Amino acid sequence: MTTETADRGQWKTRAGFILAAAGSAVGLGNIWKFPYITGENGGGLFVLIYLICIALVGIPIMMGEIMIGRAARKQPVAAFHALAGKKSAWAGVGWLGVLAGFVILSYYIVVAGWAMDFTLKSIANFTEPIHDRAEQVATNYRATASIDDMRTLLVERETERELREPLRQLQAQVRPSDWKGYERYTTALGAAGAPDLYRAEILHETYGEEVSAGMQLVLSDADSQLIATWGLLGVGEDEQAQASQELYESTRSRLLEDAKLRPQIEASEAILAQIEERTREARLAVLAVYPLVEVGAAEREAQEIFIRDKATTLVRRNEIFDSVDSAFTQVATDGWTSVFWAALFMLVTIIIVAAGIGSGIERACRLLMPMLFALILIMVVYGAFTSGFAEAVSFVFKPDPHNLKASGVLEALGHAFFTLSLGMGAMITYGSYQATKERLVSQSVTIAVLDTGIALLACLMIFPITFSYGQEPDAGPGLVFKSMPLAFAEIGKGGMLLAILFFGLVVFAALTSAISLLEVVASYFIDQWNWNRKKAAWLFGGVIFLFGVPSAFSMDPNFAMPGWAPSFGKNFFDTMDYLASNWMLPMGGLLIAIYAGWFMPKKMRAAELADAPSALVMGWLVLIRFIAPVLVIIVLAQKVGILDADELLHGLFG
Ligand code: TRP
Repeated sequence: MTTETADRGQWKTRAGFILAAAGSAVGLGNIWKFPYITGENGGGLFVLIYLICIALVGIPIMMGEIMIGRAARKQPVAAFHALAGKKSAWAGVGWLGVLAGFVILSYYIVVAGWAMDFTLKSIANFTEPIHDRAEQVATNYRATASIDDMRTLLVERETERELREPLRQLQAQVRPSDWKGYERYTTALGAAGAPDLYRAEILHETYGEEVSAGMQLVLSDADSQLIATWGLLGVGEDEQAQASQELYESTRSRLLEDAKLRPQIEASEAILAQIEERTREARLAVLAVYPLVEVGAAEREAQEIFIRDKATTLVRRNEIFDSVDSAFTQVATDGWTSVFWAALFMLVTIIIVAAGIGSGIERACRLLMPMLFALILIMVVYGAFTSGFAEAVSFVFKPDPHNLKASGVLEALGHAFFTLSLGMGAMITYGSYQATKERLVSQSVTIAVLDTGIALLACLMIFPITFSYGQEPDAGPGLVFKSMPLAFAEIGKGGMLLAILFFGLVVFAALTSAISLLEVVASYFIDQWNWNRKKAAWLFGGVIFLFGVPSAFSMDPNFAMPGWAPSFGKNFFDTMDYLASNWMLPMGGLLIAIYAGWFMPKKMRAAELADAPSALVMGWLVLIRFIAPVLVIIVLAQKVGILDADELLHGLFG
């Protein structure tokens, strides 16, 4: 036996492949990303479309990848060499995959590291002091704030919430490009009062190329006015308000002087007027909920108690939110801490991959996957007893056509690739370790069902808690690191246990995925260069970790690479994620679909699908030859900017 076959290895049991592949698929994508993009895209309908993408694009490409791996019994580069010929350009797809594995793993370990940090924090019971301090602040507030202040606070906050739906509707009515213009306009106006360095940056970022000579004038002009405003700091509030109003007005009129910007700005101001109108309506509605009128002492007292209770809860919640928010910001902006945890996480990943397919990866997944499943079930059962459960279920499963934009559909498709670990040959690699060939269709469907099931369960674990504690579902990437700890802190005593379970679960899920990413890179050196497994895992684990250091530091103000963000428009971390998820995976997936559908030798395809009914094979061929490539090309066109799906649909249906 040569070292090559010895180090290649294979799954020990029939379930080994399924467990490992599901372990690869179930990861941060399911627990961290899917809930927050579902939240941002309005729930139900997005989920439905995501399920359709999994079925029409995900499963067929998954079958394609596993098929290639099983037929060649080699990792992606070697597999394309073996199937398409030594000189074939298809090996480039394998190369792209190795590169993508390298890139994704480098920032994946940073997020996984944060989850480790939060697991440790949870063991140290970090939410309890936050809970206690908030109680104190709230008690203080209750004792000292006036009833009018309390009412104002409530009305402001509730108006904001009340406005969400009308604003969403308004946004659906106006042209998407006008809405973008409106957002840029308010940013630009907001920048009027900012110190000049920031203002220049904000204006450049929002208007970019369109910053013309007129804009330059605004900059210098606003400067002198700003200085004048600062001179007013010693004077009363009224004068200050007037000065900033003037600043705002002059910025506006300067922007209007620019012929190119003028139509945009007029559209933006029409939108602004509508928003003001709706804000007025919302405020009136909210004021009616918190009446405070002289109507006999008893009723007045009831009104005051109502307001006092509500306001105190709000203040407590805000206090918790601030603490939790800063707990996360502290970790994310502390480069060395992030590096430390990323290193630890990478170490565990390397040890498992170095131990081999059967006794490393398979064993780890056999242990971790059932634990992960149990933990998530416990959390969902807990969620089922909270007050927000019904709202969460309807948010996740009730399609609401108002809430989804065309770009959301494309995001669903893009995410289908990431969450199923497709597009970079991870499934080719794992498929190549199968000793016996089980039914390809049912293997692929099982993996996809497990992955999708966990993603839906993750929503049913997170949203009941967010809704129960007055949080919004669209908190973005911070959902897992901020909204969840917030809820744990609200719960008080039992919160610690839930926090440990939750973050432990995130770490496990990330680990079984990270393993597969490293395996794709390591197996290249094992299969192609005859390296021994330990050397490949340790060397490339180390190199990828080093490559991840800038990602860990990308949010640290002291170390962040100062030249990066201005030239790429995103920090290092986001650039890597963007490159991999938006480009490498869809490109890789497209090429794999084309190869499996059109170029793979018919006989090999038939051999892999020998046990499948011919109708199923036909269906698969249609999906992988036509449907999947076309959909992926549409996604890519949107990314390049050839196509603006939101604008197009608005144009078609008004
Ligand atoms: N699927 C994993 C997740 O959802 C991430 C992942 C692991 C992955 N291996 C991959 C993504 C290979 C793309 C390709 O978190």
